[in-house]
Amino acid sequence: VQIIRELGALKAALAALRGAGDTLALVPTMGALHPGHLALVAEARRRATRVAATIFVNPLQFNDAGDLARYPRQEEADLARLDEAGCDLVWLPAPGQLYPQDFATNVSVRGVSERWEGEHRPGHFDGVATVVAKLLLAVRPDLAIFGEKDWQQLAVIRRVERDLGLVVAILGHATVREEDGLAMSSRNALLSPEHRRQAAALPRTLDEARQRVLSGEPIDVVLDDSRQALLVAGFSEVDYLALVDPDSLEPLQSPHDRMRLLAAATIGGVRLIDNLGVTSEQQVRQ
Ligand code: PAF
Repeated sequence: VQIIRELGALKAALAALRGAGDTLALVPTMGALHPGHLALVAEARRRATRVAATIFVNPLQFNDAGDLARYPRQEEADLARLDEAGCDLVWLPAPGQLYPQDFATNVSVRGVSERWEGEHRPGHFDGVATVVAKLLLAVRPDLAIFGEKDWQQLAVIRRVERDLGLVVAILGHATVREEDGLAMSSRNALLSPEHRRQAAALPRTLDEARQRVLSGEPIDVVLDDSRQALLVAGFSEVDYLALVDPDSLEPLQSPHDRMRLLAAATIGGVRLIDNLGVTSEQQVRQ
């Protein structure tokens, strides 16, 4: 895998990588790679002839300095994994390269970024939208792949691409889960063994809620019971557990053709998010 750090070297490296007829897929990451990220690279390889990844812990999207400081960093292991997964190029920009001292532009998406994570992590989606716009403009891939675990992030990125006319296909990839259903996340490593065991209640509760919504139970009752179930299972706080329209992220009060359950809850001081499509085929175990 070719490793690029300087923005100045990126353009030439991409030009050399991309022959006539090649297609380029980008997998943007913040490092601390787990099998969920490698599934994105594998999907990228299926869909394009060349694959690039980025590793950048984006300070702009952390509204909590402690969270940024605690974010796991393991560059050497990440590079080895990307190499093994068949990535052609990895760009690891230094923060000063993406955000020079006089950086003054902010990409902010109204509507879809306002509720849920947007409400609980002020500024988070501006940070995501700004960095993803910058990465897509610098790399100019044909397509970019993001995990569906961050469902709202994916919806925000789709809007950025559409509204700014970036002409990149934005693809979502199904959440990769552990044996017990817990969505893979770099944050899982921060859980104690006991909290890690209890954390499986999050996908289990979403799956139970999905089944109850599909069987026609009143939505507000299902959501209230599900929040309560998480607290009983060991979560200390439930920021939200909601049934929403998958595109607008607006809450739904009655059953629709397409629905998504979204949740964020804290266990052992670690905030976890997850989501699930509400159709009879979709289940936590994939
Ligand atoms: O999902 C992530 O890892 C990040 O939010 C992203 C999309 C790479 C932007 O920093």
